[in-house]
Amino acid sequence: MKKQNMVIAEGLDKRNIQEPRIYYALQEESFYFAGHHISIRESIDTCGALISPGAVALCQFLENNQQEVNLKDKAVLEIGAGTGILSIVACLLGAWVTATDLPDILPNLTFNLMRNTKGHSRYTPQVTALTWGQALERDFSYSSYHYDYVLAAEVVYHHECLDKLLETMRHFCRPGSQTILLWANKIRFQSDVKFTECFKSSFNTTLLSELPQQEVRIYKATGKE
Ligand SMILES: C[S@@+](CC[C@H](N)C(=O)[O-])C[C@H]1O[C@@H](n2cnc3c(N)ncnc32)[C@H](O)[C@@H]1O
Repeated sequence: MKKQNMVIAEGLDKRNIQEPRIYYALQEESFYFAGHHISIRESIDTCGALISPGAVALCQFLENNQQEVNLKDKAVLEIGAGTGILSIVACLLGAWVTATDLPDILPNLTFNLMRNTKGHSRYTPQVTALTWGQALERDFSYSSYHYDYVLAAEVVYHHECLDKLLETMRHFCRPGSQTILLWANKIRFQSDVKFTECFKSSFNTTLLSELPQQEVRIYKATGKE
């Protein structure tokens, strides 16, 4: 269930009090998942600012399929976490979560994660920068970092980083690693179709759910030799 509020936030630039005040609208979205009210502050300036239909669909899937996908005490990594809704739900379902995104996205992601999980989750979620394809072996060496699940919602859209995205998925979800990748995506562009083909040939994949109205698909993937 979701409701929308508009919160008018005062502009942050207070260096010169003679300057006219700047106001901008920050969208607040509310959800109810995993027995908790979740309040998400969206942002205004970047592509990680808004909650996607794919993220909401995957949250719903995780809530509805807790037997099949049991996140309790599991190590979970989210890539391209954006506003953090998916990481929040994973955390509320008992996982030890690391939410990652580009450095600029992290302040709002941290704000949303902390406000929604403090006092409600078994583990405090971690937030860290992860730019796809960059310094993966240095910052997330395969010998030190192992995740039971990697989550990704709507990380494919019309951009130049799809090779890097696939490389990142493959880094964390290797053959024989037992890591399960759950990827939710809405088909919008030709790049979505092309990426899906590459995804299917790179991993052992299963289509877990398809929501025709939202045009969202949720795939499960494991490493392929
Ligand atoms: C469309 S948003 C989806 C956000 C969130 N997963 C959701 O579904 O609501 C795509 C996300 O990917 C992140 N992203 C884009 N390019 C990236 C890159 N090269 N490395 C890491 N994250 C990236 C963006 O910052 C953004 O948070």
